[in-house]
Amino acid sequence: MSDKKLIVGNWKMNLTVHEASLYVHTLEKELTTHRNVEVVLAPGMLALPTLALQIDHKKFKLAAQNFYWRDEGAFTGEVSAHQLHGLVKYALVGHSERRHVFHEGDKDIRAKMQAAVRNGITPILCVGETAHERSENETDAVLHDQLIGGLANLTSEEVEAIVIAYEPVWAIGTGNNAAPHDVEAAVASIRRQIEHLYGKKASDLRVIYGGSVSGASAGSYLRTPGVDGLLPGGASLKKEEFTEIIEAAHKAGKGKKA
Ligand code: 13P
Repeated sequence: MSDKKLIVGNWKMNLTVHEASLYVHTLEKELTTHRNVEVVLAPGMLALPTLALQIDHKKFKLAAQNFYWRDEGAFTGEVSAHQLHGLVKYALVGHSERRHVFHEGDKDIRAKMQAAVRNGITPILCVGETAHERSENETDAVLHDQLIGGLANLTSEEVEAIVIAYEPVWAIGTGNNAAPHDVEAAVASIRRQIEHLYGKKASDLRVIYGGSVSGASAGSYLRTPGVDGLLPGGASLKKEEFTEIIEAAHKAGKGKKA
């Protein structure tokens, strides 16, 4: 496992290709590169080829927000992991907006996990409970089901190399970010369950937190035991705030080997 903090900016369905290109241009100028932080941008699909040509790959890596699990064929309107190969290093899988708005289920999610791995892309599996599930004390059970559902097609070695993002649904886009001790408990639960299913080595995989992360709150998560990075949405679209998050990651990661 890498000791680098992983910061993944999920832009969701925001910015035109032109706006994305301008944003990265200014971001690149203002950002200090730190050896102990890996910065990943997940722009809209259309901006990926432009940004792949534009970015300094030592400063940024790219991620896809979504893809289809078949490699090629008659699937009008879809983009496959096979087609994304070479453009992105990472891809989000099972984001709560995919699960809830587009009704993606475990079957789609595990097929996508397998497709990403098959095509040399590191999947970031997003898991997390709804407010109702939390109020019913079902967080551990939900995480368990989402982990089993999403990882079923992978080997222990493959699981060890993926990333898991703990993103409680109630914290996404609400400004209602989770308390660091709740994140610590959920991340510990994720690692325990992975250890049970895939062994000790696999449980050392990278786990990051997402859900209303801001420049101000980033440091508290990054210092939380077990948290290897962050997945900001809204804050990743604001240059100052995204830069602040990266600086917080640099500070939190100090002293660890890059
Ligand atoms: P916000 O940071 O806007 O809450 O979004 C989080 C998220 O969904 C990242 O994938």
